[in-house]
Amino acid sequence: MEIGTIGAGDFAQAFAKRVLKAGHKVKLSNSRGPESLREIVSRLGPGAMAATTEEAAACEVVLLAVPWDNVPETLVTLRTWNNQILIDGTNPFHGKAGTFKPADVGNLSTSQLVAALAPGARVVKALNNMTVPNLNADPVVNGARRVAFISADDDGAKKRVETLLEACGYSVIDLGNLRDGGLIQQAGGPLAGRDLLERGEYQK
Ligand SMILES: NC(=O)c1ccc[n+]([C@@H]2O[C@H](COP(=O)([O-])OP(=O)(O)OC[C@H]3O[C@@H](n4cnc5c(N)ncnc54)[C@H](OP(=O)(O)O)[C@@H]3O)[C@@H](O)[C@H]2O)c1
Repeated sequence: MEIGTIGAGDFAQAFAKRVLKAGHKVKLSNSRGPESLREIVSRLGPGAMAATTEEAAACEVVLLAVPWDNVPETLVTLRTWNNQILIDGTNPFHGKAGTFKPADVGNLSTSQLVAALAPGARVVKALNNMTVPNLNADPVVNGARRVAFISADDDGAKKRVETLLEACGYSVIDLGNLRDGGLIQQAGGPLAGRDLLERGEYQK
């Protein structure tokens, strides 16, 4: 599968490593165009490609990995959604990692805001909880699998992302719809920033 990333910073690159390892191809994009991504894709290796945001957004599965402040302008200029799965990995913080301040989103699910800005996309909240060092690390720790949470209103899209993340090595926990599940896993929610490991095999 070809997976696109909107944003090619620390988070998108760590995600790209994981999905490349699982055998997928990745088209990374940023605000400055494919030329600026040559070194990054060469470092990521075979299967990684530099793309425009439009090319990345045309992939079957797309990761949204831009700073919260840039989400509206990014999505407003991308009017290309035609049933693609959009994994919302953002967290509502103003500024960049290291200097950020929590954004006031009331008690709204930020992924519902993302979905409203991306009509036609099937939004799945996932991976926002994972830090870059954890995403870079092996998902299996002493025989236990690192937990990834997912939430979505579209069950088919949620299942696809679950399958993708399981193939990457994660134990996936479905938290329900974008509203309720999103509130649980987003910054400020009870599972925000929690790094859980699952031991043993859970039989579905
Ligand atoms: N870092 C983490 O541990 C972590 C973990 C989970 C989730 N997240 C979330 O993931 C998002 C990205 O975090 P990050 O740490 O990867 O940030 P980052 O390293 O600052 O990277 C941000 C990326 O977004 C791109 N970007 C900004 N505006 C854009 C636009 N209009 N169109 C296309 N690309 C644009 C930037 O491209 P240019 O350089 O060209 O501007 C850059 O590649 C944030 O919402 C963050 O909360 C981060």
